[in-house]
Amino acid sequence: MLLQSLIGAASLVGAALAQDHIATAGLVQNNATDAPTRLRYDNGTYGPEVEEVHYYYDQWPIGIAVASDGRIFTTYTRGSDRYTLGVVVNKTAEAPYPNLALNLPVDQLNTTWNGIAFGSGNASAFISVQAVYVTSKTSTRPETLWVLDTGRPTVHNAQGDPSMPYAQPGGPKLIAISLTNDTIYQTFTFPSTVHYPDSYLNDLRFDLRANVTGTSGKGIAYLVDSSNEGRPGFIMLDLGTGESWRRLTQDPSVLRGPNDLPVYQGHPGYYRAKGMPASWQQEGLDGIQLSTDGMRMYYSPLSQKYLYSIPSANLRERDTNELAEIHAHANVSNHGQRGGDANGFEGDSNGFVYQLMPTHNAVFYFNPADGQTHSFVRDPRIVWPDGGSIGADGYLYLNINQLPYQPDWNNGVDLRQHPGAILRCKLPGNGTKVTSLYA
Ligand SMILES: *[C@@H]1O[C@H](CO)[C@@H](O)[C@H](O)[C@H]1NC(C)=O
Ligand SMILES: *[C@@H]1O[C@H](CO)[C@@H](O)[C@H](O)[C@H]1NC(C)=O
Ligand SMILES: *[C@@H]1O[C@H](CO)[C@@H](O)[C@H](O)[C@H]1NC(C)=O
Ligand SMILES: *[C@@H]1O[C@H](CO)[C@@H](O)[C@H](O)[C@H]1NC(C)=O
Ligand SMILES: *[C@@H]1O[C@H](CO)[C@@H](O)[C@H](O)[C@H]1NC(C)=O
Ligand SMILES: *[C@@H]1O[C@H](CO)[C@@H](O)[C@H](O)[C@H]1NC(C)=O
Ligand SMILES: *[C@@H]1O[C@H](CO)[C@@H](O)[C@H](O)[C@H]1NC(C)=O
Ligand SMILES: *[C@@H]1O[C@H](CO)[C@@H](O)[C@H](O)[C@H]1NC(C)=O
Ligand SMILES: *[C@@H]1O[C@H](CO)[C@@H](O)[C@H](O)[C@H]1NC(C)=O
Repeated sequence: MLLQSLIGAASLVGAALAQDHIATAGLVQNNATDAPTRLRYDNGTYGPEVEEVHYYYDQWPIGIAVASDGRIFTTYTRGSDRYTLGVVVNKTAEAPYPNLALNLPVDQLNTTWNGIAFGSGNASAFISVQAVYVTSKTSTRPETLWVLDTGRPTVHNAQGDPSMPYAQPGGPKLIAISLTNDTIYQTFTFPSTVHYPDSYLNDLRFDLRANVTGTSGKGIAYLVDSSNEGRPGFIMLDLGTGESWRRLTQDPSVLRGPNDLPVYQGHPGYYRAKGMPASWQQEGLDGIQLSTDGMRMYYSPLSQKYLYSIPSANLRERDTNELAEIHAHANVSNHGQRGGDANGFEGDSNGFVYQLMPTHNAVFYFNPADGQTHSFVRDPRIVWPDGGSIGADGYLYLNINQLPYQPDWNNGVDLRQHPGAILRCKLPGNGTKVTSLYA
């Protein structure tokens, strides 16, 4: 009885809130005398049809980005994988993109200095790519695949215990590849005062309009530092000058939730790295999405239930403004709980902020017009949605990688089963890729 008044059903912009009620999609009841049960039950499914686009039979994927010509790019954090950035070539295979030679060989991914492990500092090779993002053609740039290399591979000792070496300048970088000629045309690296040795570059968004305040006019990148070691925050990069700076470092809104215990497929999921006591997920800031007018950044840590936002102007403030951090903190909005942990975000032309919900095998979206979180799609095949990307075709593409079953979270035991997958589903309200930020 109580629940009926609490949760809004899916509704598009401007729906009458007073008429909202709890959604019943996915509930099944069969009164036939020979039915297995007369009880109403949850079949685990709602929303638009979920199509199986691609199967991963080799490396397990992380990030995904779809280009206007339909090409799908994927990332694989290393490790032991032969290559870290790929392109889908057919239903069951991917190939290194733009070529294999750019990938640093596995035995050169890390190094040791005075007994401390560091990732490679090679700025002209791929080390471990976490995320990719496609921006549309502008008056000064071709359609571009932006590649975010963490410079921090996961390595294993002789006993198979995982660890992540610190970053050294040159390793963590943002690379621009023209999708017209498939060639790298820009590379940005970070000083160790902006990208700390224990930072981890996790996601990226762009505003390429010439009139964005506080920039050189050549565009700005907003990057996620999700640092498991505890100093997460935003890193901004001026694409004209190469200057970078941080904002909201260790703000409560970017920190991991304390001892958050997620539930996967109905099972409580502690973080169990081989060689360490059982623990909790340590990741901070994870999902980000810029509003369609570029004015507001939505975000949340992986292991909190809250959705936050901040005026993007506060992120663009430089350290030369003595009050930049205090004003940024004071301008954070808390939109309340969304009903679970979320990792990757995406956004569409309706202004909806999609949030991938690994604990619900679902994708929800936040509608800024009514301030509520809504159901979008749920399916038992969505076993850890890791990255989402909206194509020019109006579909949301999802990477499915069974992440909680990987050995590094699971006492060294690999419980994943091939294939991984790319799924897609049609967006509501004719939503499509946001292009308003790429004039
Ligand atoms: C789940 O139940 C809904 C009815 O609420 C139905 O429309 C849908 O087709 C069902 N899905 C599956 C996979 O059976
Ligand atoms: C099953 O019976 C209930 C109670 O009479 C009814 O509300 C429901 O609509 C019926 N379901 C189907 C699928 O006929
Ligand atoms: C897919 O591409 C791979 C690699 O090029 C190739 O080995 C395989 O035969 C292709 N499969 C199909 C069904 O075309
Ligand atoms: C960086 O890696 C590339 C590709 O493996 C290699 O050609 C180049 O020599 C490396 N640079 C340095 C400074 O080690
Ligand atoms: C890279 O890390 C692994 C695991 O700790 C270690 O065995 C190896 O010696 C390291 N490589 C270098 C060159 O330091
Ligand atoms: C590829 O495109 C970029 C961006 O337009 C340009 O800067 C670069 O010169 C081109 N490279 C080649 C090899 O054509
Ligand atoms: C929000 O940020 C603006 C711009 O930096 C600043 O002027 C304003 O004082 C901030 N708001 C608060 C409550 O600090
Ligand atoms: C979506 O597009 C179709 C075809 O152009 C149109 O008929 C329909 O009204 C649109 N729906 C919404 C919600 O805008
Ligand atoms: C900035 O430029 C875009 C197009 O490039 C335009 O739509 C927008 O209105 C401009 N904003 C301001 C504040 O001038």
